[in-house]
Amino acid sequence: MIIDGTLGGGGHSEALLARGATVLGVDRDPVALQAARVRLAAYPAFSARQGNFGDLLEVATDLLPVDGVLVDLGVSSPQLDVAERGFSFQKEGPLDMRMGDTGRTAAELIAEEDEAELRRILEEYGEEPFARPIARELKRSLPTRTLEAAEAVKRAVPRKAWPNKIHVATRTFQALRMAVNQELESLESLLAALPRLLKVGGRAAVISFHSLEDRKVKETFRDMVGSCKCPPGFPVCACGGQGDFTLVSRKAIAPSDEEIAANPRARSAHLRVVEKIR
Ligand SMILES: C[S@@+](CC[C@H](N)C(=O)[O-])C[C@H]1O[C@@H](n2cnc3c(N)ncnc32)[C@H](O)[C@@H]1O
Repeated sequence: MIIDGTLGGGGHSEALLARGATVLGVDRDPVALQAARVRLAAYPAFSARQGNFGDLLEVATDLLPVDGVLVDLGVSSPQLDVAERGFSFQKEGPLDMRMGDTGRTAAELIAEEDEAELRRILEEYGEEPFARPIARELKRSLPTRTLEAAEAVKRAVPRKAWPNKIHVATRTFQALRMAVNQELESLESLLAALPRLLKVGGRAAVISFHSLEDRKVKETFRDMVGSCKCPPGFPVCACGGQGDFTLVSRKAIAPSDEEIAANPRARSAHLRVVEKIR
């Protein structure tokens, strides 16, 4: 049994099912869940549940421990492409950005948080150099529509400082999305649960697109692997430093040029995998 904690359009689940795995797909987005259920209806080994991958100990409690857990972080192309979901600074829509059907919208977050907290969100999740003026302008104008929010960012950042390669509102929208969906908190909760989610021999794979997320995965995996201080040649670890996991590849695995050509949104993906060894 493998849990695909970010079912989305079902592409990864389908690849696993086609290779003979039994798969539970989990997504917080009911729209994604419904589409994937239709796409994967022909596979009796597939089932799906709505939930947050940070809550897998509860969502999948009857199935644990499992052979594998996979998450492919972030938003899906259908979420980005539908204006009404409010993720895009280029499409007019409500400033929503919720992946699921609960919690605060981005417009509510801007209205409810104070300027200092908004600034922190923009700095921490967006690495936005103009976090202070953008936070001030968002609080002043209280946008409720995507294009209004993008205009607020444009007003706050001096024209000559607009980035060349990305839209000036890219970092702000990413930061608001991560805060609205509490993305780092879900990731932390998933990583903390891995020892109880996996069987011995089971693997966890995380695909991240954001340096903060990749750093968190890298550091947590390093702690889970531990470090043995026994003298070389000891047959088994006696110092207690060795953890219950091993890295399946020492470095993050990056997409090939062919994959990037076929799917440009994959260009910043980092895949890290650990295996539970005892
Ligand atoms: C990048 S897409 C996954 C695409 C998928 N791997 C595929 O092959 O089609 C990310 C999906 O994960 C979901 N998601 C993001 N964070 C989540 C969380 N904490 N819990 C559950 N689902 C989440 C999103 O709703 C979205 O559908």
